[in-house]
Amino acid sequence: MTEKAPIVGPRMNDFRSLSPAVWRASTVLFDNIADFTSRKERVYDGYTYGVTGTPTTRALEERIAQLEGARFCVTAPSGQAALCQVGLALLSAGDHVLIADSAYGPLRTFAQDYLQRFGVQCETYDPCAGAEIAQLIQPHTKLIFMESPGSLTMEMQDIPAIVQAAKAAGVLTVLDNSWASPLGFQGVVAGVDIVVEAASKWFGGHSDLLLGSIATDSRALYEKFRTAQSVLGQAVSPDDCFLALRGLDTFALRYTHQCASALAVAELLACHASVTSVLFPPHPGDHGHARWAASFQGGGSVLSFVPAFQSGAQMHRFFEALQVFQIGASWGGVHSLAAYYPGTEQAKRKHCQVIGGIVRLAIGLEPVEKLALDLKQALQNAILRTD
Ligand SMILES: Cc1ncc(COP(=O)(O)O)c(C=O)c1O
Repeated sequence: MTEKAPIVGPRMNDFRSLSPAVWRASTVLFDNIADFTSRKERVYDGYTYGVTGTPTTRALEERIAQLEGARFCVTAPSGQAALCQVGLALLSAGDHVLIADSAYGPLRTFAQDYLQRFGVQCETYDPCAGAEIAQLIQPHTKLIFMESPGSLTMEMQDIPAIVQAAKAAGVLTVLDNSWASPLGFQGVVAGVDIVVEAASKWFGGHSDLLLGSIATDSRALYEKFRTAQSVLGQAVSPDDCFLALRGLDTFALRYTHQCASALAVAELLACHASVTSVLFPPHPGDHGHARWAASFQGGGSVLSFVPAFQSGAQMHRFFEALQVFQIGASWGGVHSLAAYYPGTEQAKRKHCQVIGGIVRLAIGLEPVEKLALDLKQALQNAILRTD
């Protein structure tokens, strides 16, 4: 075979569609050898190899950057990959990192089991801390990881106070903003240096893909994240980017509906005799409500509660009785989910105020009356016997 393989070229002028094209590629073609040899110069603004993206990836990155009110965005193969990529791109041996005690568990594991092994000193801090965080900042502190509200226990962080303290000390801030999404809180606009989203949740919206995003206003940081993506081989599937782009078309509608349903569910649980506490900052009874109301424009679809019953048998009966809620982790999709986190998990944390096992609910698009009835009958079922 001496002939060049035919290239199936798109005749884009002849075709218009409402959907973005899915550009799949490992190989990227170049017009001539000069173009090829200078390809690394275009790693940030052009195309060099499939791992750093195709036009489908760029379309999603631009759309997310716009939503975040940021200049730049780099996608990652999952939310956890995005969090790890930030750490790997910015940290070196000898650096010190502060991580909210309520941050997503696998991020804390990454810090403890991987970053520490590479000589990075990782310290968890009380997620309720505000300006006092300044007392934990050391001369070698490089990053502060925030997540607000925190995973499972839902502590609201005082983001403006932490950002102010970090800026005064020349420390970079990172926010896992997956719960609120940019519709609920625009971290970059509020002065956070780096905002990470688990795009698997709200953006995808249908529990069928894994994706993450890193947004920033800083060109220098953007270049570091794009380089890390290339060197670490953090390729993102263009098909998944397409699904996230499609998910974003209905995002605002889903967000509004699911957040309203989550608040209604929180209200129901807060008045229920079998519930000790509801952890959901948009609910006025939540201890983080004032912080949420001061900075956030929207809520979330995930809430936790501590049941008054705590025996294993009662917990089993509660979950077995659920008919609309399905048992599963993750959230942000259209189906409601329930998950259980035993008290031993909370007890392992240094700064956790929540005592006992937690039920976490992810609220989907089912009619809220159906969700309410399902929860009421399952709570009733749990306390039929005390065991
Ligand atoms: C708050 C938060 N951040 C990050 C992640 C990780 O996202 P992914 O599942 O896409 O890795 C999750 C997943 O549950 C999450 O809840």
